[in-house]
Amino acid sequence: MSKIRIALVVLLLWSILLTSFVSAQTRQSWTNTPEIERKVEALLKQMTLEEKIGQLNQYSYGMPTGPGTGRSKVEEAIQRGEIGSFLNVTDPALSNRLQHIAMEQSRLKIPLIFGLDVIHGYRTTFPVPLALSATWDPPLVQRVSRIAAEEATSSGIRWTFSPMVDIARDPRWGRIVEGAGEDPYLGSMMARAYVRGYQGENLNDAHSMAACAKHYVAYGAAEAGRDYNTVDMSERQLREVYLPPFHAAVDEGVATLMASFNSINGVPASANQFTLTQVLRGEWGFRGFVVSDWGSVGELIPHGVANDLATAARKGFLAGVDMDMESNAYFQHLAGIIKAGQVPQAALDQAVRRILRVKFALGLFDQPYVDEKNAVTTLPAANVAAARDAAEKSFVLLKNDAAMLPLQKGVRTVALIGPLADSAHDMLGAWSARGDAKDVVTLKAALEKRAERDGFRLIYAKGTEIRGTSDAGFADAAAAAAQADVVLLALGEDASWMTGEAASRAFIDLPGNQQQLLERVAAAGKPTALVLFSGRPLALTPAAARVNAIIEAWSPGVQAGPALERVLFGEAAPYGRLTVTFPRSLGQVPIYHSVLNTGRPPVGLDLTRPPTDSNEKFKSRYVDEQNVPLYPFGFGLTYTAFDYAAPQADAKEISVDQLNAGRAKLSITAEVKNTGPRRGEELVQLYIGLRGTSVARPVRQLKGFRRIALAPGESQRVEFTIGREELAIWQRDTTYAVEPGELSIWIAPNAQSGTAVTVQLR
Ligand code: BGC
Repeated sequence: MSKIRIALVVLLLWSILLTSFVSAQTRQSWTNTPEIERKVEALLKQMTLEEKIGQLNQYSYGMPTGPGTGRSKVEEAIQRGEIGSFLNVTDPALSNRLQHIAMEQSRLKIPLIFGLDVIHGYRTTFPVPLALSATWDPPLVQRVSRIAAEEATSSGIRWTFSPMVDIARDPRWGRIVEGAGEDPYLGSMMARAYVRGYQGENLNDAHSMAACAKHYVAYGAAEAGRDYNTVDMSERQLREVYLPPFHAAVDEGVATLMASFNSINGVPASANQFTLTQVLRGEWGFRGFVVSDWGSVGELIPHGVANDLATAARKGFLAGVDMDMESNAYFQHLAGIIKAGQVPQAALDQAVRRILRVKFALGLFDQPYVDEKNAVTTLPAANVAAARDAAEKSFVLLKNDAAMLPLQKGVRTVALIGPLADSAHDMLGAWSARGDAKDVVTLKAALEKRAERDGFRLIYAKGTEIRGTSDAGFADAAAAAAQADVVLLALGEDASWMTGEAASRAFIDLPGNQQQLLERVAAAGKPTALVLFSGRPLALTPAAARVNAIIEAWSPGVQAGPALERVLFGEAAPYGRLTVTFPRSLGQVPIYHSVLNTGRPPVGLDLTRPPTDSNEKFKSRYVDEQNVPLYPFGFGLTYTAFDYAAPQADAKEISVDQLNAGRAKLSITAEVKNTGPRRGEELVQLYIGLRGTSVARPVRQLKGFRRIALAPGESQRVEFTIGREELAIWQRDTTYAVEPGELSIWIAPNAQSGTAVTVQLR
């Protein structure tokens, strides 16, 4: 063999080795294996036009999760290859029955893929996603979503419509409960954690599900918090705030995305070529498939960009929606459109390829059925323990005057009051898949057990209904409080009616007459803690004024009671921190931490004093409300206290060129000390601000966080490093780079406190 030949062979072997190494390393590797590609191409060649379109067609079977449905004769349609996927099939016997038709009676034997909203657990219900985000604990979220995958796949569900990675900054929007809150940095970390959990190491593991990052995109920015409403925003805002969690999910290898209901700058997201193709495919190289939201292709008609379903099908499809959920638009019209030459055949092939690729990657062709015997029907003990752990870590202690919590062990009489104390169903929260209220241990049930064990007296009074108007129960509640040493008030929202999809609220107070109940109870003058169950930030100012402690418990899932009881009695310390800002009042909404400074910031005003105390006019402020929220982003107390020294940077200035080249990093440290009476964990947060840049930057942006544990009196120097990734911005021409300017850095317990160190970027 000549030297050149040998060199070529070595080079070839080396490149094969390198490619396999690289594909094993990158998260997207499942989407790009030559073997799958070969199989996809071979199958595609055999498919008729109708069979191809069938793969793009998804129907709901059973419980609808959107308006209108009810297909008949789906069995015959499967035989003819007209359906590629079902959603809402949760009975493994049914899924097997339908799959057998696809695998045995259809011409090409292409398996169906069954999808479901497995959002925070399947049989074992975990805290709602907003609560999970409050753990600031991505490994925990990964564990939770892995458990959800294990349970759901046991019923034949290999595709979940989760995670919802929509950034949400308006608590009126009911779906704020389904996401990770207001911040793109944290949202991106959570997006990755969910994808890792659901999809596992290998998508073709029978316990792995394809994840679906939704709702692409900007759905969380619905005007006035009204669900499905319009979104109009700059490309910069889109790129900086709303796209990053999707990009993170794609980078992590998410198999699918769901196109959203809203319009973006006049163009519905389900017909948006810019987001669905230019950004998603062109810039990010996504190789999985995009499913529409429920009927969102058909909704191009009411949006006003299509006058008939055929046009809707053409526009949605050409923009980049591969699979049509429930509109029946592709099924009815795509063939005609393609025959008329309005959509190229190649585009159809591409969409089919993407769907088949995911089906092959999941191993569905080899393992289409589920073993009905193994379906998880009762809750595995380990999963229940994980649910308790997740719930415990999701609670946020918002107020704790005079260290009212944890409750003293020797307490003799506890009054438990309120409509959420024993409402099992509300503990499950929105989208609880196969969650069952019978599995829930409520706060009342947990406290009853504890009272028996610890020998204290528990007096329970419901007080009112969640959305109650009658005060008939107030007297009993007041009497219970009068007899007690401490009062626990279990108040909040009706999880199924007020949180989740189509559950926007125009008022974000305690519902019904719960505030009046609270006032009646507080009048007893006993130490009173509010245990709040909500799927969104509520305007708590009037409640906070009357109680000694507040613990935000969200919708905690099946282990609501045991988790709460352990935190209330100090066996576990509050661990959660807010991932959404809690406003003082509705008029401040939308309110979030990473705001721009404006040309007239209310500097010099004491932002914590009532505005009427100041004469400063012509400032960006309310005349009748403070600018600051009641509880800022990142905030949360625990059973000890921490002190932060001013941060220090390892340089006074740093070269922008070096930063852009990825060759420079900045190290920032701060000493954090446990100054309280107990051992505790602190969530140390890193924020940055930039001034002097070509575009105005938020006063603060989250860029890192770390959890530390300290004994009383102990301190630790916490270090963060930042570089190009943290400092680059979308410039005016939408290129992404670090610019010269002044950098402020905070290491702080929340978005609203701490002192900054400044560094010049030159
Ligand atoms: C929701 C999606 C959900 C879908 C399927 C829609 O109404 O917006 O989040 O995945 O229904 O249930």
